[in-house]
This record gives sequence, structure tokens and C-alpha cells, in this order.
Amino acid sequence: MACLCRMAGRHVTRFPCPRPRAGASPIPVSQDDDKRAAALAAVAEVRDGMLLGLGTGSTAAHAIAAIGRRVAEGLRIEAVVTSLASEAQARTAGIPLRPLETVATVDLAIDGVDEIDSALRAIKGAGGAMLREKIVATAARRMIAIADGSKRVAQLGAARLPVEILPLARAFVADALTRLGGRPAIRGGEDAPVRTDQGNIILDCHFGPIGDPATLAACLSAIPGVLGHGLFLSEIDALYVAEGGLVERIERPAVTPA
Ligand code: 5RP
Repeated sequence: MACLCRMAGRHVTRFPCPRPRAGASPIPVSQDDDKRAAALAAVAEVRDGMLLGLGTGSTAAHAIAAIGRRVAEGLRIEAVVTSLASEAQARTAGIPLRPLETVATVDLAIDGVDEIDSALRAIKGAGGAMLREKIVATAARRMIAIADGSKRVAQLGAARLPVEILPLARAFVADALTRLGGRPAIRGGEDAPVRTDQGNIILDCHFGPIGDPATLAACLSAIPGVLGHGLFLSEIDALYVAEGGLVERIERPAVTPA
């Protein structure tokens, strides 16, 4: 059983881990152990009857595996996926899937992040799936981010910000991103650009510390040819983050009407 305690308005969940014998060295906790611990804690929120949004990446893969195990034990849910890779994993795990084009609302989305700050604003898309991930996160009544502790940052911008673009707008968008202060690079290189699951290309853009993420997000969305970007500023409702085997849950504070 996990134990849940509250500390200064935050929820800290401890998961059982094998206790070393007296005098033995502590059992090391790897980054992947932390990804798994965060994912398992988030999956505990899944209930019968939910329509889930399944994220992409190594942390989301732990969540998909855990959901698959619960489906094998009798959990009744359906899911939409954010990438072809997650679709393949979910099918193998026996998770019933619905096509994204038939779904307007999702009960609960669970996905990883590349960077996340204390206001639950994130950069996503190192796996190249940020366009579908943004659709699913926005369609979700509740969106949970899952991460190991290395993803926490004081300020967004150390990670490159991925921007999915129409291939024919490549030079135009790259120029616009440069004028916004970014340093764009085509993922995969000019000669062999990586194609997204939708057949588009990605400009990974380094902005350095992002002082005003909302203004940057609005500027990116206004560039013709930009189909999506990895700034997730308002979608994430809660974060499960694990460090050294300890999982902390952080909820976005409710906005009080003025
Ligand atoms: C994919 C993503 C991933 O969720 C993000 O890159 C985190 O990946 P990982 O869990 O492997 O660290 O946004 O587009």
C-alpha cells in the first residue's frame, strides 16, 4: 500500500520499496525507476468507464504498461493515443482504442514532459508528438503530467522548444522564429528531416530562458505554417513527479473569480 500524506498543501505519496538489510548499501533508484513511480501513482487515478488520453515517451510508456495490466485484471476503459508508437504499445497491452478523430472530450490524459515549472507550465515534444498531445491535453477534463525530478525547472527554456510546421513553410517559419529571438534547427537535419506522425517537420528552437511564455506561445501560434508547438501553459492540472523513489503530487491551484 502507498501511504499518502499532506505537506504544506501538497500531497506526498510514498511507494513501498525493498528495505535494505541493516548495514547493507541503500538500493539505488534510477531515473527510469522514478519515471515508473510517477506513472504508477498517476494511473491510480484511472477509474472504470473513463476515456483516457495516452501520452508519448518513456514515462508515458510506463503509464500505458500499467493501464494495460489493469485492463487485463478487468478494468473497463477506452483510450485515445497521441502517437503511432503509443498506439502500438497500447494495442499490444490490450487497451481498447478509439480513433482520435471521433473524440471531442477525454476524461483523463496522462503524459510526460521535457521541462515543467512550479506553475505547471511545460515544454513537451522531444518525442515529436506535441501536436496530438496538445489536442488530447486540451480535450481532457483532467490532464496529469508525469516526470522524474530532472524535468523540474525554475524557468522554462533550457530545453529546445519543438515547433511542428508545414514542410513548405520551412524557410518562412525559420525566419519568423529567428526574429522572435530563437535559434531554430530542423530535426533530423536539412537533408533528412524527421517526419511527424502527420507527415510534417519539426523546427527545434532554442530560446534560452523564456521570460514570458504566454506571449511567446501567442506569437508562435500566429505564424502561418505553424501547426503546433510544445509550450503547454494551461493544460496541465496536476503533476506527479518522482525523485529518489518519492512521488510528489502537485495540483494547479484553482483560479478564484475576481
Ligand atoms: C513526446 C513528449 C514526451 O512526453 C516528453 O518528451 C517526455 O519524454 P520522456 O518521458 O521520454 O522523458 O512530449 O512528444
